[in-house]
Amino acid sequence: MIAWKFAILVSCAVLVVVSPLRAQDALVDRRIDSLLHMMKLEEKCGQLNQIPASWSPERKSHLTDEDAALVRKGLVGSLLNASGSSSVREIQRIAVEESRLHIPLIIGVDIIHGYRTIFPVPLAEASSWDPALVEQSARVAAIEASSAGIHWTFAPMVDIARDPRWGRIVEGSGEDPYLGSLMAAARVRGFQGKRLSDSSSILACAKHFAAYGGAEAGRDYNTVDVSERTMREVYLRPFAAAVEAGAGSLMSSFNEISGIPSSASRWLMTDVLRKEWGFKGFVVSDWTAIEELIRHGVAADRGEAGKLAIDAGVDLDMVSRIYMKELPELVRSGKVKEEVVDESVRRVLRMKFKLGLFDDPYRGINEEREKRSILAEDHLRKALISARKSIVLLKNDKNLLPLSKKIKTVALIGPLADDAEDMLGGWHASGKAENVVTILQGIKNALPSSAKILYTHGCGIEDSVGNFSDALDKVRQAEVAIVALGENERMSGEAASRATCDLPGVQSELLQKIVATGVPTVLILTNGRPLTITWPAAHVPAILETWFLGVQAGSAIADVLFGDENPSGKLPVTFPRSVGQIPLYYNNKNTGRPYAEKDHYTSKYLDMPNTPLFPFGYGLSYTSFAYSDLKVSSPTISSKDSLKVTVRVANTGSRKGEEVVQLYLRDDVASVTRPVKELKRFARITLEPGASQSVSFVLYPDDLSMYNLELKKVIEPGTFTVFVGTNSEDVMETKFEVK
Ligand code: NOJ
Repeated sequence: MIAWKFAILVSCAVLVVVSPLRAQDALVDRRIDSLLHMMKLEEKCGQLNQIPASWSPERKSHLTDEDAALVRKGLVGSLLNASGSSSVREIQRIAVEESRLHIPLIIGVDIIHGYRTIFPVPLAEASSWDPALVEQSARVAAIEASSAGIHWTFAPMVDIARDPRWGRIVEGSGEDPYLGSLMAAARVRGFQGKRLSDSSSILACAKHFAAYGGAEAGRDYNTVDVSERTMREVYLRPFAAAVEAGAGSLMSSFNEISGIPSSASRWLMTDVLRKEWGFKGFVVSDWTAIEELIRHGVAADRGEAGKLAIDAGVDLDMVSRIYMKELPELVRSGKVKEEVVDESVRRVLRMKFKLGLFDDPYRGINEEREKRSILAEDHLRKALISARKSIVLLKNDKNLLPLSKKIKTVALIGPLADDAEDMLGGWHASGKAENVVTILQGIKNALPSSAKILYTHGCGIEDSVGNFSDALDKVRQAEVAIVALGENERMSGEAASRATCDLPGVQSELLQKIVATGVPTVLILTNGRPLTITWPAAHVPAILETWFLGVQAGSAIADVLFGDENPSGKLPVTFPRSVGQIPLYYNNKNTGRPYAEKDHYTSKYLDMPNTPLFPFGYGLSYTSFAYSDLKVSSPTISSKDSLKVTVRVANTGSRKGEEVVQLYLRDDVASVTRPVKELKRFARITLEPGASQSVSFVLYPDDLSMYNLELKKVIEPGTFTVFVGTNSEDVMETKFEVK
């Protein structure tokens, strides 16, 4: 008897000591149960309703009288697009003081690459191939946004994009599932911090679930038709990584996948996300995506749309107001089970508890902290580091770059040369042009006052005719022409697809005329997608891809131009020669008739090579690197072994530089076709001139696995080719065998 009592005591102690988190979760579950018990059906459905805040002419967020009345009645669980500590405090006050059950609102905003200190756009940051850096910028964004009363960001956007026409390519990490997964996890960690309940943490939301980037013809919102294999091998991987990193929410996408709109896909939201991956958070629909099920043609009316979405596993309804208006009746009529609604309410309330909103509904809101954190010196410093590392050197003939600071006369030409607004890039939250260092300003700051900078914009970004005489006049007086061309920030992002990917307007013409003067020319590109810059790639001696670099754009660009920073960015996406080659991505399949120059009946074009203009992983440095001694730890391994791959990298140039060493793998023969190469590892190393380093990577069994005919993950015996190099094309290779 005593022994029995002792056993109980010990097991209780173990429960408390070993799993305080579980005990806490159980407590939260009990509190949720008791809340659910008190809630009327309308209030439950209200928790699943998200509405947008309104904006006053002074750009202050508030609720309209009608929406405030809904909040008082407990018919709103979440708000989007409200920010600013005093505004959020007032809105939250209505929810917690004037509603019957005092349940706090969860407030979400698109904090994509900074709140006020705007960092480079995600595609740019992915060019850093530096997850720690990306985590750091998400952390800064969280610190600033949380101080302005924001609890939740609709980020990271983790959609794989293989089509540069698709404007939203700018919001993600490019074309590769491995790089994309590392970036997704890094951003989740950065946003959510160590604990969600910390007042500087914000809830992450991996979006858009799923395959939104697979839109046919790169046209936003368009149909997606991909196989389950490609879903699992490519599109779903960054989502799984985000979930594994602890992302508390996901957003269902607008598109259909092979006939089923994502926001009605039980397979996605329940079978894969919850049952397979064990996701415990909640899913929010994209803006009116539930109502759009009607136009997709899978629901006859709002009621049917609501039933499809909630049954699929979409917990929160962004903007359609269907869960508020139609869901109660669907439950009363027995079309939707109340337990389904209860489960969604539980998921939403659990996150509110985890965020600490029930302990302090005004969490994070602190006007003092808001003032202190916004544009803090440390944040600006981090934004500068991030901007520098996001720049990719595409071309540098005869080492034109870096330029000497002793230069006497520079011509700075181009519509983006003194443009502040566009440097912010799309989705720039509360970012302001007044905080941006333009390229002109950055160059002025970098050069001594004696240097002459002859600036003119040359043409507008979208001008259809141009008079370039002033620009050419200035170029002729200069030792070097720096030409800043590209896209404005509205040319990428949501609903911003382009059928062409060239330099808009007469910018190419301006560039051609400048190059024709014979003055050495540096092209600085500012854009949100790979551009088909075949002419510049052939004729302009130096090209920098700078994407949209945020508030520190000009400083970072000047640092690279004048050699204070040695560029080390690598492309996270393939640059095609022409839109006719799209989709063009490095991890393609071999086909039964791979390209062969002399064989007519092979996979190729009559009028263009298959190869890209710049391959995935490409990026130059002011120094040069040589690869040698590629070795694997064993020529044969079992499917349970790991394998060490080693390579020697030497800095053969005259400057200190950073290199991103990349490892790709190919499963040579398998039961299903495998990509010609897949990125499996990379490492960023720093080498002094003349120095060399041995770089090792370990491949684990999972790295060798694939989905077999039954879509089961397996490792099949046979040979594998390992490629290591400076980009996806310029590689050394060796083989090993799995026995
Ligand atoms: C629609 C966009 O697709 C999504 O990415 C965004 O988070 C929501 N609008 C909210 O702004």
